[in-house]
Amino acid sequence: MKVLLGVCGGIAAYKAAELLRELQRQGAEVQVVLTQGAEKFITPLTFAALSGRQVLTSLWNPAVSDSASAEMPQPFGIEHIDIAQWADVLVIAPATAHMLAKLAHGMADDLLSTIALATTAPIVVAPAMNVNMWHNAATQANLKTLRSRGVHLVEPASGELACGMVGEGRLAEIGEIASAILHAANPIRDLAGERILITAGGTREAVDPVRYLGNRSSGKMGIALAEAALARGAEVTLITTTGRVSSLRCKQIQVESAEQMRTAVLHHLPQATTLIMAAAVADYRVATPSEQKIKKSSEHLTLELERTPDILSEAARLRLPGTLIIGFAAETRHVSEEGRRKLREKDVDAIVANDVSGTESGIGADLNGGTMLFADREVTLPLSTKRKMAESILHELATLRVDRLQRIS
Ligand code: C5P
Repeated sequence: MKVLLGVCGGIAAYKAAELLRELQRQGAEVQVVLTQGAEKFITPLTFAALSGRQVLTSLWNPAVSDSASAEMPQPFGIEHIDIAQWADVLVIAPATAHMLAKLAHGMADDLLSTIALATTAPIVVAPAMNVNMWHNAATQANLKTLRSRGVHLVEPASGELACGMVGEGRLAEIGEIASAILHAANPIRDLAGERILITAGGTREAVDPVRYLGNRSSGKMGIALAEAALARGAEVTLITTTGRVSSLRCKQIQVESAEQMRTAVLHHLPQATTLIMAAAVADYRVATPSEQKIKKSSEHLTLELERTPDILSEAARLRLPGTLIIGFAAETRHVSEEGRRKLREKDVDAIVANDVSGTESGIGADLNGGTMLFADREVTLPLSTKRKMAESILHELATLRVDRLQRIS
């Protein structure tokens, strides 16, 4: 996804650097355009260093003149038209009252407003301003005009403002702006209507009040699935061991042990149309965790382990008709064979089998790859970022859903 990030002059301009990082984390390529006002608050160099691209600042001399970013490749040949066509989405954050007025009236007196007029990409605006400026009838009328033309508005939040007043006008949360951008830019809405329950992270099984048995799972695969599913229009509930992910606009339930994950999955399963178990659930737990911290005494310590409940199998048995279930199989050898065995034994619709023998991909890593196994076919998932792999898995889910519906009708 190619995002053109326009930044206007306001105290919140520094937050655009955070937005840039968040968009990059979600796999976007970001080109920054600063207005003259923005340059008073934050330098082009900050954005050039973060984006690795020259920052564009003027209609007449688009590339910045500071020496560090001048050495970076100039991204475009013919200024505003090229830039406007390059973008999949234009976001203006923060957008000042002045910029909203210019957009509403089609004025094009600087690079950013000219691009806004020239682009055919969706436009997202995240305003930030003084509360009285926000409520002013002129600003509200401009917003009404922009909304009626399909501009996506990320409403400002309420709170203490830079001017000392309290009220609406603070730039919305970065996560909220990022999800509005994804929503606007992503034309694939093939999961609209799906309610997807996703598990992420590795479970921790108590040994005593301070120690646990765990695994190397980071939760990145489950979180990537949640991000991608939201962007494709699904409603998502994430059951995770990794802590709250502030950029995700969905219900998140924190759990720690396999037993807690089981309770949460079984509780939410009846409302879900699909369950994706990307979590690395412990297979064994300590049979009787100590109530007190275990003291160092003898040379050897033996812990008795017992099996944890197999959540995936239980969910497959208890699901309502029509609920799709996808499991994961992290294997270090005979990856496909083991995956096929799990597909049969756990009675699920698909298994994503991945090889976790290396350190560059799989558990805890940023990359992943493998094979998605179905009863009647298999799909190779080439080594890629977890976000890309999530997109492929969800594409297969959407296909599976269409297949099932066709079979019923
Ligand atoms: O049997 P195995 O642990 O390899 O199966 C992996 C799949 O089963 C994953 O989708 C994992 O989330 C799920 N699982 C589970 N309950 C367990 C162990 C694994 O739901 N106790």
